[in-house]
This record gives sequence, structure tokens and C-alpha cells, in this order.
Amino acid sequence: MARRAGLLSPPLILALETSCDDTCAAVVDGARVRSNVTSSQAEVHARYGGVVPEVAARHHLELVNSIVEVALERAGCDLERIDSIAVTTHPGLISALLVGVNSAKSLAAATRKPLIAVDHIHGHVAAAFLVPEPLEPPFLALVASGGHTLLAAVSEHTSYEILGQTLDDAAGEALDKGARLLGLGYPGGPAIEREARDGDAAAFPFPVAMSHGHGLDFSFSGLKTALVYVFRDLDEGARAARRADLAASFQAAVVSQLIAKLERALEAGGWDAVALGGGVAANGPLRDRAAELCSRRGVRLKLLPIELCTDNAAMIGSAARFGEPVAYPGYLDWDAAAR
Ligand code: KG4
Ligand code: ZN
Repeated sequence: MARRAGLLSPPLILALETSCDDTCAAVVDGARVRSNVTSSQAEVHARYGGVVPEVAARHHLELVNSIVEVALERAGCDLERIDSIAVTTHPGLISALLVGVNSAKSLAAATRKPLIAVDHIHGHVAAAFLVPEPLEPPFLALVASGGHTLLAAVSEHTSYEILGQTLDDAAGEALDKGARLLGLGYPGGPAIEREARDGDAAAFPFPVAMSHGHGLDFSFSGLKTALVYVFRDLDEGARAARRADLAASFQAAVVSQLIAKLERALEAGGWDAVALGGGVAANGPLRDRAAELCSRRGVRLKLLPIELCTDNAAMIGSAARFGEPVAYPGYLDWDAAAR
């Protein structure tokens, strides 16, 4: 690569991520994050109680060029010095993904640089490879976000194997829907966490779905329905008076299921390290309980800084280090994929 011909330094990668409602660009230098810029549209979508794909795509379009500029500026380099460009191509909202894919293609084509396609979930897993204290495979990853909830065996840098995943709603989706019902706004995870601080997690005995045997799949839709029923049976005054208790109990049920399945996976399998990723991994009670579980079992736990849990482009750059760079013009016909 032109930048450091003859040197053994890792390539500089400019990464873009626009799969949902965050417009993100980052520059990574091996496992080091040189810059990681995220523009959240949460306030825009809060108005609608959730992400509106076309609104997200339009905002990505407005923001993406300046976010890339800021990422390059903060990294202290210009596009010329970048060795390759990476972008999330799947899964996500198709109209949102397309903005990132087309921007990355244009940037790469204009400078004749290679392009690397990244799977968003692999990005969440690969966030664990970043400094500080990079975690190297093998490890067990719990990824919980607004679109996905899964346990993955990470045996190599280039891929992951799904051991269990949600059969219905994702953990973050359940928190978002629960928060909407409780009138706490969007995104629901942080709103529920804040409200729950003043509540009693044992106030409402919400169900924790546990599949039979040693299954590692998750299910959150029954929990959501249970909240709907409990809420329906409370009068207006009680709904307000018990909102913190409802939030705390609901959050505890989501966290308990995540922790229970994580413990099952640890019991099943000889792991000595665990990584948490995805937006829900920003949750304080989840982090505390994972720390308690891992310390009890003598397993190393990699907790990411919050900005590497929620959607970001540094994690896409991290996965791209182990992806396949495609030389110009091989990527000009690339598309995005929702699934
Ligand atoms: O990974 P992410 O930013 O985007 C997706 O790939 O979906 O995750 C977003 C999800 C949302 O459902 C949001 O409510 C949840 O992560 N989340 C949280 C917290 N921060 C974000 N859930 C619980 N506690 C938090 N502090
Ligand atoms: Zn995500």
C-alpha cells in the first residue's frame, strides 16, 4: 500500500456505517481507533417513536460527506493517505444502507482505492478486537442490539458462528417497545435504564423466557405482551406512580434472560473470554451482571466503551481489517442487502 510501502504498519482504513439511524465514519489504524464520529438521528426519530427508514436515509444523505470529513480531520489524515475504504453492506434498513454503500463506492472509485464489504453483526463482534485491551479469538460474544440478539462463537477474526439467537424480538427492540408503552420515548433502552434507577426491579414478576434443555435461543415477545397486560390493568394514576417500578422490573427481565443464556453458553463450552456488544451492551445493569457472572466463573470479560457498543464505524473498520479488499473497479456493481 502506498502509504507505508515497505513498513509493517497496519493499513489505515476509512469506514462508513449507515445501516440504521446513526451516520458514522471512522479511521482505524490496526486495532487503534484514530477517529470515530457518530451523528445520531435519535432526536429526529423520537418524534415518530421509532426509526422511519426513509427519514433515516435522507438524513444519512445530508450528513455522510461531512461526517467523513470530520473523521479524516480528527484522524489527522486526508483521503489520499487512506489505504482502503470499508462499508456496512448488510444487514439493516435497505434505503439507509444504500447511502453508505454508494458514498463508499464513490470515495473508493474516485481515488482508485480498494473497498471492503462488512457485515454489521461482524462489526459488533469485531469491536472487541479494538484497543483498549483488544480481545483476540477464541471468545464467546453476546451481541444485543435493536435489530439482533445472538450468542456467537468467535474462533477467528474473519467470522463468527451463531450458537443461539432471538426467535422473535431483539432485546433492544423489546426495550424500545416497552419504553414506548410506558411513555418514556425513543431510544427506549437508555430511557428505561434512567427511569429504572428509581424503581424496584422486584416489583413486577415479569417472565424470563427459558427454552427447554440447553437451548441458547432468546425470546422477548412474551415479555413485551406481559408488560402490555400489566400496564392495561393499572389506572392512570398507578401507571404514573409505578412507572419506575415497571421500567426496573421490565429491564431486569430482559437482562436476566441475556445473562441466563450467556451462563448456559459458558456452562456448555470451555470459553475463557466473553465480549458484550451492540447497543444493549451499554446497559449498566447488564454490564454489572455480566461482570459478576464472569468473575464468578473465572472468565475474562471485555466490556466496550459505550460509543463502541452502539452503532459506530470504528467497529466496521475493525472487522474490515480481516475482510477481503476488492480492487477497483470490482465493487462498482455492489448493492446493499437488508438481510
Ligand atoms: O447497536 P445499536 O446502536 O443499533 C442496532 O444495530 O440496532 O443498538 C440500538 C439498541 C436500541 O434498541 C437501544 O434502545 C438499545 O440499543 N440501547 C440500550 C442502551 N443504549 C442503547 N439498551 C439498554 N440500555 C442502554 N443503555
Ligand atoms: Zn448495530
